[in-house]
Amino acid sequence: TDVAFVLGTRPEIIKLAPVVQACQRFEVDYTIIHTGQHYSDSLDSVFFDQLELPEPDYNLGVGSSSHGEQTGEMLIGIERALTETAPDVVLVQGDTNSVLAGAIAASKMDAELGHVEAGLRSFDRSMPEETNRVVSDHVSEYLFAPTEQSKTYLLDEGLSEHRITVTGNTVVDALLRNREIARQKSNVIADLGLEGTEFFVMTAHRQENVDDEARFRELLAGVERAAEAHDAEVIYPVHPRARDRLEAFGLDVPDRIRTIEPLEYLDFLRLSSMADLILTDSGGVQEEACILGVPCVTMRDNTERPETIDVGANRLSSCDPGQIVASATEMLLKGNDWENPFGDGDAAERILRALPLEIKSREVAQ
Ligand code: UD1
Ligand code: UDP
Repeated sequence: TDVAFVLGTRPEIIKLAPVVQACQRFEVDYTIIHTGQHYSDSLDSVFFDQLELPEPDYNLGVGSSSHGEQTGEMLIGIERALTETAPDVVLVQGDTNSVLAGAIAASKMDAELGHVEAGLRSFDRSMPEETNRVVSDHVSEYLFAPTEQSKTYLLDEGLSEHRITVTGNTVVDALLRNREIARQKSNVIADLGLEGTEFFVMTAHRQENVDDEARFRELLAGVERAAEAHDAEVIYPVHPRARDRLEAFGLDVPDRIRTIEPLEYLDFLRLSSMADLILTDSGGVQEEACILGVPCVTMRDNTERPETIDVGANRLSSCDPGQIVASATEMLLKGNDWENPFGDGDAAERILRALPLEIKSREVAQ
């Protein structure tokens, strides 16, 4: 096979979909190796369906466990799958344990490794994602940096310039392709009874926020106070990790926060695009808010997406309730006429063009 995609979680499926589709257009032969890190339908198969992706060729079924166990099982399975398929190029995307395992496995085999969304840095090594990003970048031959900022971070770590291509982020490709489809097809606004109402969208799933009971409690209290201050309702599609923690800690979600199941991509896009404000700790959601022109408050101490803050689309609030309220008010009062810093939606094609592939279609060869 020409290209093997190793993926395992919701954001990787969404952000690699444009690259898979570019392979289809340019007749590049590919294999999809799914680690099985995400396996619940709502985090996995709904995205294959909605983004019209073919079923994975492999599903390693690794599931949930500790970091070491999960990554180790993936490593074993990915190496076997890569040995069978003998790809010229392996592509991974982002910063999850699936990416780390894919990168380590590929780097020791006779295949070129490309890291999509290279060079993101929170400079917070206590985050598992930061370790995954740094290690994956350093073992990759092809570094696809979404912005000049991420390229600079890679150069600062001594990675050589000839490995780096600034491509934009494939999240833009996915969003531009699906925004209008979502507007036409999604009934989420009517289904949730939100027509003509002021509402915020919230997501929170990050280990350092939801696995810490006191922090999760503060975060919920902060969002409730922000909603009260602006007389808004909050819609919170709850990630399974957060659902599990809410139950284990016996936390009561405050009244103004309406919890719902994780949404399909088109519904989430539609809901986000109509929101007055987004409060999140997600990486991809910070980017989407910025691209959609919806103000964002990031409930973390740092972000590996500083571009969103630089253009005025995002603000860091930590999980402190007072800061969440102040950040929400500031972002709501501000205009939303910033420029999208994540590119023009042609990231997937730039990635394929940069790879050592025999591209058959004339379209990409120009
Ligand atoms: C992972 C990534 C995170 C990313 C997120 C995207 C790592 C270290 N973390 O976090 O960077 O932002 O995916 O959503 O790779 N669970 C289910 N069903 C599933 C998957 C998980 O119920 O299909 C529950 C289980 O209780 C599991 C918990 O979620 O223990 C955590 O899953 P895990 O894959 O370890 O990490 P995420 O929090 O999903
Ligand atoms: N998303 C979705 N449904 C939801 C919440 C998020 O489709 O209910 C999408 C969202 O559009 C974004 C991606 O999931 O593209 C972000 O994934 P997540 O927050 O799980 O991971 P992160 O980006 O933080 O790694």
